[in-house]
Amino acid sequence: MHNLAQFDSDIAKAIQSEINRLEENLELIPSENLVSQNVLEALGSVMTVKYAEGYPGKRYYGGCEFVDQAEELARERLKQIFKAEHVNVQPHCGSGANMAVYFSVLKPGDAILGMDLKHGGHLTHGSPVNFTGQLYNVAFYGVDPETEKINYDAVKILAHQHKPKLIVTGASAYARDIDFKKFREIADEVGALLMADIAHPAGLVAAGLHSDPVPHCHFVTSTTHKTLRGPRGGLAMCKAEFAKALDKTIFPGIQGGPLMHVIAAKAVAFKEALQPEFKIYAKQIIANCKALAKSLQDNGFRIVTGGTDTHLFLVDLTEKNITGKEAEEALGRAGMTVNKNTIPRETRSPFITSGIRMGTPCVTTRGMQEKEMQQIGNWIGDVLKDVNDTSKQMAIREEIKKLCKLFPFYIN
Ligand SMILES: Cc1ncc(COP(=O)(O)O)c(C=O)c1O
Repeated sequence: MHNLAQFDSDIAKAIQSEINRLEENLELIPSENLVSQNVLEALGSVMTVKYAEGYPGKRYYGGCEFVDQAEELARERLKQIFKAEHVNVQPHCGSGANMAVYFSVLKPGDAILGMDLKHGGHLTHGSPVNFTGQLYNVAFYGVDPETEKINYDAVKILAHQHKPKLIVTGASAYARDIDFKKFREIADEVGALLMADIAHPAGLVAAGLHSDPVPHCHFVTSTTHKTLRGPRGGLAMCKAEFAKALDKTIFPGIQGGPLMHVIAAKAVAFKEALQPEFKIYAKQIIANCKALAKSLQDNGFRIVTGGTDTHLFLVDLTEKNITGKEAEEALGRAGMTVNKNTIPRETRSPFITSGIRMGTPCVTTRGMQEKEMQQIGNWIGDVLKDVNDTSKQMAIREEIKKLCKLFPFYIN
């Protein structure tokens, strides 16, 4: 029987409700994106059935000739996008890709230098609640208290003091471009390896609109589901000299059978990223992000670092006397999905926070442009004037539904 709605109406209903939520709300979480029907088709394909432990041409199971084709295509396309010497498309997620790099070159107790979570880094860059904080001797760099941007001189001093074996660059909540060349100079001075985690700006790097870490870093990792607009997953790239170690760490080191349906969907997304339209899309993400940040500034909000070079930015709500949690909930009721986020010099817990993080990959995928961003900024301003005004939130929710109808995405 092929009818999910009949066989399992509970799951079918949950999926339909999620489609409706995506259609009727403005998704402003920068780590998410809407994927194409082509990506969804590959993701929902029979390639989920196949066990394919190993790599194309060297599998532990028979019957891998067609999944091999999918993985080869994914690898070739990824290499073409980033001009990397070696790529691996098997990591199940971004965290797993990072783990693979660490396990390839570090031993427990080794020193690493990563960006502080509170300043925009990711859990897997050394947080005490993550395996990285538990296994490695971690020192953190942050952002400059004045500029709120990475201070490369401070990174250099820390690197000399801490003598890391690996320096981790890249972030989850940092709105500015990153100077990977400078990071490499620092790494070379102290004899460290350099890894860039471009989970967030990967699509912008692919389009040539963000500094490129690949020439400068020994390792580059990413998710595939943020600005790169693919299925949920991870990837890892490295210089040729680390290829064997990286592949062996991913399988059999930390993963079993690769998710071949996800790898097929990654291949489709990489093909999309190679099209000339993807560059136009990525350019619009940044233009939209700048327009949204400007609209919020015009509405009296302070943007951390004063703006953005990328697809995301942080709003500091301290002077507005509301918490990130209150803002997230009020905006959610009004039809705008954002996430509360710590800001530099944060005084509140990560469950409350003094800021919100927002970004434009999803709304740009829907075709929205600067004019819509200005309007969204005004709505956010209206909602956050009084987070308890639920009737205003309901009125704006209706306006947002009307706007979303003009920019449909998943039509069924
Ligand atoms: C910089 C960075 N690295 C790694 C990850 C982890 O990715 P995943 O959630 O796929 O494990 C994220 C996720 O948000 C991230 O922002």
